[in-house]
Amino acid sequence: MQRQIFDDYESPSSAAADLVLETVSQNPGAVLCFATGNTPVGTYRLLIEKAHARQADFSQCFCFGLDEWVGVPPEKSGTCHQILHEQLFKPLGVRGTQVHLFDGMTDDISAECRRMNEMIRQKGGIDLMLVGIGLNGHIGFNEPGCSPELEAHDQELHESTLASGQHYFNEPTPIAKGLTLGLAQVRAARTVLLLANGAGKASIIQKALEGPVTPEVPASHLQQHKGALVMMDKAAAAQLT
Ligand code: PGA
Repeated sequence: MQRQIFDDYESPSSAAADLVLETVSQNPGAVLCFATGNTPVGTYRLLIEKAHARQADFSQCFCFGLDEWVGVPPEKSGTCHQILHEQLFKPLGVRGTQVHLFDGMTDDISAECRRMNEMIRQKGGIDLMLVGIGLNGHIGFNEPGCSPELEAHDQELHESTLASGQHYFNEPTPIAKGLTLGLAQVRAARTVLLLANGAGKASIIQKALEGPVTPEVPASHLQQHKGALVMMDKAAAAQLT
């Protein structure tokens, strides 16, 4: 696992956008996976600006979504579906046929997860996965205690995830469960880029990067991943030794 510490929020966002562009320029058919949340907003904004300026070609790549809220209609503002399409795929010119996201409205969760797992296998695995970290150390909706061997699955969400999740919606939205790629798929991605910013993440970043590798801190499994890269601002890195 490598780490890079930057002065402000904008710099890792820019470096992360560059990494996505470099990945797609070296391998136009790259398989990418994107998270939502507050952390990658700057990365996506800069990625779109840079992609347009450099006339980057995303027409051959394939994109997965990391997770989704269960039971929230996809078009509702705040779902991973709506955010990724509006903030990323449409501006980049990525077509619907190049994207596979969880259907949070499915009435057959097992089949939905099987479809996701099968699609990832068919595409030859994920080249670059961009993720954030929850205050409890989660990646996607892999909450503390989750087995590192799991692939796509549904997950009861912890209090802290439910509380921070509510902020993504523009009105109170009942959420209880999520669908997520599993840690097995995070660990199998050729490159995992974890972004973190702000003082609120300093304590969990210290645990995830320097504490024991344990299911209690799902992001700690990245310590054992040679292709893991953590980009963070000084505030998030403040408790690292
Ligand atoms: P955030 O969420 O980017 O909004 O901080 C990260 C996460 O919960 O994974």
